[in-house]
Amino acid sequence: KRIAILVSGTGSNARILIDRFRQHPEDGVEVVLLISNKATAGALTMAAERDLPTLVVQRAEWKEGQELLRALDAYDIDLIVLAGFLWLIPAYLVHAYPNKIVNIHPALLPKYGGKGMYGRHVHEAVRAAGEVESGITIHYVNENYDEGSIIYQAAVRLDPEDTAEVIADRVLRLEHGNYWRVVRGL
Ligand code: GRF
Repeated sequence: KRIAILVSGTGSNARILIDRFRQHPEDGVEVVLLISNKATAGALTMAAERDLPTLVVQRAEWKEGQELLRALDAYDIDLIVLAGFLWLIPAYLVHAYPNKIVNIHPALLPKYGGKGMYGRHVHEAVRAAGEVESGITIHYVNENYDEGSIIYQAAVRLDPEDTAEVIADRVLRLEHGNYWRVVRGL
């Protein structure tokens, strides 16, 4: 299976997916393209260091989709993996790749999802609500933020004194340990 990863930021999840599947060809999964909506995303440097082809997509192009669809087609992409990608996925892309787009969210959806719920905002909300657990959700992507059907969840226990940073760190570790496994399973 050939994968394209979509990112907006650091790309620590993307890095783990790329490296894992390169080190384990027997998994039968290959990350062949990394797409960013931000020209300054750290993930682009990380991918370049690994000689992985990258693409930066601009807003207008994203809305329209022709170039993007052409690129995904040219790379013969089977699965699109979102790893810290912050733009909403447009209808044309959902329809072109039905049940072939997945996302990871740093909370136990359906709680703490939706527009504006990303990065530290998620963990601050979890902390403010006094939750005793948080976790990760890997789900299919539809046209609404964080609403597609859930594929996998895993939880971490929280202590009342945990700061948002501590929660973020623990949840990110859980992402790193699980995303590649779930992607491989698809
Ligand atoms: C992760 O927490 C992911 O769940 C969320 O964005 C973050 C991306 O982190 N969607 P990174 O860029 O993979 O380091």
